Amino acid sequence: MVVFPILHKEVPAPSLTLFVVKAPEIAAKAEPGQFVILRVEEKGERIPLTIADFDRQAGTITVIFQEVGYTTTCLARLAVGDELLDFVGPLGLPSEIENYGKVVCVGGGVGIAPVYPIARALKEAGNHVISIIGARTKELLILESEMARASDRLLVATDDGSYGHHGFVTDLVRQVMEEEKDLAVLWAIGPMIMMKNVAETTRPSGLKTMVSMNPIMVDGTGMCGACRVSVGGETKFACVDGPEFDGHLVDWNLAVRRAAMYRDEEQRVIAYHQGGGCGCH
Ligand code: NAD
Ligand code: FES
Repeated sequence: MVVFPILHKEVPAPSLTLFVVKAPEIAAKAEPGQFVILRVEEKGERIPLTIADFDRQAGTITVIFQEVGYTTTCLARLAVGDELLDFVGPLGLPSEIENYGKVVCVGGGVGIAPVYPIARALKEAGNHVISIIGARTKELLILESEMARASDRLLVATDDGSYGHHGFVTDLVRQVMEEEKDLAVLWAIGPMIMMKNVAETTRPSGLKTMVSMNPIMVDGTGMCGACRVSVGGETKFACVDGPEFDGHLVDWNLAVRRAAMYRDEEQRVIAYHQGGGCGCH
């Protein structure tokens, strides 16, 4: 039986957890933009997590996740030496990395984690990489030094002004679009509202804007339809056709509605477990 031990654990910011997981077969094939699906318990839900880093030589995959519900809270309680029940991947299509010239990478909150390997690969491919990262407050800002190394220029924003520009990453996208000429492609990963607003900011100029959709996923193989998104009027499955799509073609209203579909059930599960219904290890 294949096991996936946790080799390293960090808490890069409050309510965020970083795991380095031993998974040599996944690390051998992983590319920026791809994701894994993991399970903590036999009957537990499947959690898709975009890969934050991979090391082919060490045979490891790094994931960073936020505690948002019951399963991610259980996951965050695991320690070094514990094993994940399932760790499946790499899934999805890789980011299209080539030498475009001048590119922009935008990461918001936990979304900075999946943007990092994309920025690094774009830099290695010879691009001039301008990165924009943002968080609600300074202590929630992750991977700043890694993003600085992967970029020719790094701009930082916090919603409360505790560090860098006081405001959203979209302000800095506007600034960069005014200051820089010949931008070829922009990647934006973060909360849905951020990706939607970045896409609206770049739409008038036609700057190609790739976003990474993170919908509810079940099987991760294109069979169940749970992860469907509408892109350019066509139904696509984020797990096999994505997770990256052209942000100017995504039907954001539908994506926002589908993301909220199980909110009541999620709240009930959290309340049940808080009430002592059962506990995770
Ligand atoms: P957050 O709410 O702290 O926001 C992060 C940043 O996004 C903010 O600092 C701001 O710069 C920007 N932002 C937020 N609201 C905005 C708005 N209305 N307009 C413009 N910019 C805005 O984010 P968080 O709590 O770290 O993120 C959690 C979300 O990110 C979850 O919903 C998670 O599913 C999603 N996520 C997505 C992916 C992916 O692959 N798409 C990966 C990781 C996390
Ligand atoms: Fe089932 Fe994508 S998760 S089709």
